[in-house]
This record gives sequence, structure tokens and C-alpha cells, in this order.
Amino acid sequence: MSLPVHATLAGTQSGPATDPALDAWRQLSAKQQPSWQGSPEHARAVAELGTLPPLVFAGEVDVLKSRLAAAARGEAFLLQGGDCAETFEAATADRIQSRVKTILQMAVVLTYGAQMPVIKMGRMAGQFAKPRSSDSETRGDVTLPAFRGDIVNGYEFTPESRVHNPARMVQAYHTSASTLNLIRAFTQGGFADLRLVHSWNQGFMSNPAYHEYEQLAGEIDRAVHFMEACGADFEALKRAEFYASHEALLLDYERALTRTDSRTGTPYDTSGHFLWIGERTRELDGAHVDFLSKVRNPIGVKLGPTTTGQDALDLINKLDPDREPGRLTFITRMGASKIREALPPIVQAVRDSGAQVVWVTDPMHGNTVTSQNGYKTRRFEDVMDEVRGFFDVHRAMGTVPGGLHVEMTGDDVAECLGGADPIREEQFDELYESVCDPRLNHAQSLEMAFLVAEHLAHR
Ligand code: TRP
Ligand code: MN
Repeated sequence: MSLPVHATLAGTQSGPATDPALDAWRQLSAKQQPSWQGSPEHARAVAELGTLPPLVFAGEVDVLKSRLAAAARGEAFLLQGGDCAETFEAATADRIQSRVKTILQMAVVLTYGAQMPVIKMGRMAGQFAKPRSSDSETRGDVTLPAFRGDIVNGYEFTPESRVHNPARMVQAYHTSASTLNLIRAFTQGGFADLRLVHSWNQGFMSNPAYHEYEQLAGEIDRAVHFMEACGADFEALKRAEFYASHEALLLDYERALTRTDSRTGTPYDTSGHFLWIGERTRELDGAHVDFLSKVRNPIGVKLGPTTTGQDALDLINKLDPDREPGRLTFITRMGASKIREALPPIVQAVRDSGAQVVWVTDPMHGNTVTSQNGYKTRRFEDVMDEVRGFFDVHRAMGTVPGGLHVEMTGDDVAECLGGADPIREEQFDELYESVCDPRLNHAQSLEMAFLVAEHLAHR
């Protein structure tokens, strides 16, 4: 959030947002919501959220929108990464640092490979609500409400923990605030200085990804020293812009954090810079699309393999009627075996309409399988195959591959199979930590960044 001075000063004030249009969603069907409406605890939590300070400023959100407009034109690339589901427990200094560090490393690799700016964005500081395919979960002869993310209920399989508890929204806010505070400190306070590029590497050189990173860091070092010898000024190297994003699933929470920007009198959802709508909640006449159509943030929509060109056009007309640069991002999640057939008609419809969106690939969600020993997993090869399909389709259509959306962690977990230093199923019992979908571990994330950088270099 190293921002131009004009942006940091503008929009720091925001007041309650009372426009009735912001509540139109309440009359519409809202999927995937908890069953806590009407309780006094719910009213108390929503009222408290309404009085708490915004987590992000409208001025920052506007700068992000201009960065995304550049990505739509092919002049920048979006890297969006983080947990499937953040947890309150994992919001520790160490683990936040290792995630930020990994995203910075991936960004360096991509910036160097693509020779263009990379927009760094975490699925962080708010990614606490999860859509579920079933309302309940059964283990043995016990059936309890499904885990819907720490903002709704607990992961532990007990009746007490699985109760939908609205006070968790307030805890999610505070956890997001402390996460974002640490992210800002890391990215603004010297840690993200490009001259420390070596120090972010955290694994053993026997791993090919770490080895390759070490070589790249050496090249950057030499280039920096050369420029230093020439008397260059290093202001731009000292800080990194870093944005927070999450799925805007829990509408009570998003509405309570929506504020009127004092500069423009327009509403911003101040729970994060960028919000997206999931594949399961993107119906045109549903509550999620309606609510997000009313706030000024840049927004994303996940598109699965059954999306039609007309669906995409309808979403554009509803969410970006003014065709505002950077406003709308389509995050496609097709599956490696489907992307080459499913993506072209959508891209073609949008291209032919003249609308400009940011096209981002989420190569994770269409490639989830169950391992023989019963874990939800993804094969690194399938994930990379979808990435290749994404670049192939955009190259063939003459459109811009604008970004990558991944579920990843900075830790040495074993959740996704394969990679250059392959993860095997036998490691799951010991090293599988995700409470939701499987994430690329630190080395797999870096490896992917190198492979994507190659595509970008040869666009
Ligand atoms: N400020 C530039 C940027 O955000 C350069 C930069 C500084 C950077 N630290 C970084 C790039 C860490 C990638 C990773 O792009
Ligand atoms: Mn997920």
C-alpha cells in the first residue's frame, strides 16, 4: 500500500452508508448465508461492526482499480494468492510473514520474467467465509452443521463449535485488522525491499524451485549493484504495494463494513480492497450480485465451465454498466480437461461486445480430486495444464491473460500432489493442514511462478 501521496491523503474519511440501494439485496435470494438472522446477538454484532473503523481506504481501492485497468490492457499482471480459508488460529506473525514472503517471491519471479508490473494481492485479511455444497456434515452416526469458515462457526466437530455464532463476525474483523496491520508493516517497513530478495528464500537448495530462485536473486542483485554504481535512486525498490481480497460471501459482514467515501459520496466496501463473487453465488438476480453492483470497489466473479457467453455479458451489464476500466475481473476456473473448450466462447462474447475485463485464471478449483487415502487434493500437473490452456486460449483469441489466482501457503505443507520435488499421498497424514481446499506449498508456489513467468515472457 505504497501509494502515491495524493491517494494516501484522499478518502481517509468515511461515514455510515445509508443509501437504501445498499439494502436492496435483502429482498433477494441470498445463498450460502448462516442461520442466525433475527437473534439479539446478530443485531449486536452487526451494530458493532457498523461503528468500527474501515479496514481499507477508498483512495487505496481507487489506486488498485487503476492498476487492474492496466492489467486489462496487458500492461500489468495480477498475482492473487492465499489460503482457501484463513483461520483465526493461523493469524500469527510467523505464518502471515511466510505467506507474504512467498507472494513477494512469486511477484519477483513474475516481474522479472514478464518485465512488467505485478499487482500483489492476498486472499488474506478477510478470507474467512466458505460456501459449502451441503448444510451438514456426518461423521459416523453424528450429523452436525457444516463448517462455513471461522467467521460463522468452528472447524472442530462438536455441537458447540459448529453453532453459527454472529459474534465471530466481530472476531473476523479484528483478526483481519491485525493481519492487515502486519502486512502493511512488512510491505512498507523495509522487509519488502527488493535489495533483500535473497533473504526471502527459505528452503533447501536441493529443491529445484529454491535453486532457480537463488539464481534469479543473484541476477537481480548484480543488476541492482550495477545501477547503484551508476548512482540510480532506489525509492521504487523499497516498498511493495500489497492489496487485500476475499470472497464477499457473508453479506451481513460486507454490508456492515460498507461506508460512504467523503470525497465522492459513493459507497465502498471497506472490508478489503478487492471482493469477489463465487461461482455458487453469482446468479444475476441474486443478493450477492446486487449488493456488489452497488459498491465502488473493483470486483471479481468466478466463472465455472458451464458459464455461457450470454451469462458473462449479463454480468458485465449488471456489475459494470459504465464499462469502467479496472472495475470487473473474470476469474475462470474451468478444469484442465475443459478449459480449451469452455473458455473460448465466453472470451469471444466479451471481446466482441467491446467490454474490457481482466481475465484471470484460477487453476485450482476445477482440478480438485480425492486421493486414494481420502484427502481432497490437486495434482500440480493438472493445475499447470489449466494455466497452459488459459494462455493458449487468450493467445489464440488475441485477448489479454491478465492474472493468476491461486490457493497457496508459505508453509511446507503436503496438500497438492507432485511438483519438481514431488509431494506424495503418504505425506498427507502428517503434513495436511488446510481446513478447506488443498493449497500449493511454498516450493510448489515458487515453481508455478517460474512456469507462469515463461508464458508471460513468450506472450
Ligand atoms: N515497488 C515495486 C513493486 O511493487 C518493486 C518492488 C519492491 C517489488 N519490492 C518488491 C516487486 C517485492 C516484487 C516484490 O513492484
Ligand atoms: Mn477453495
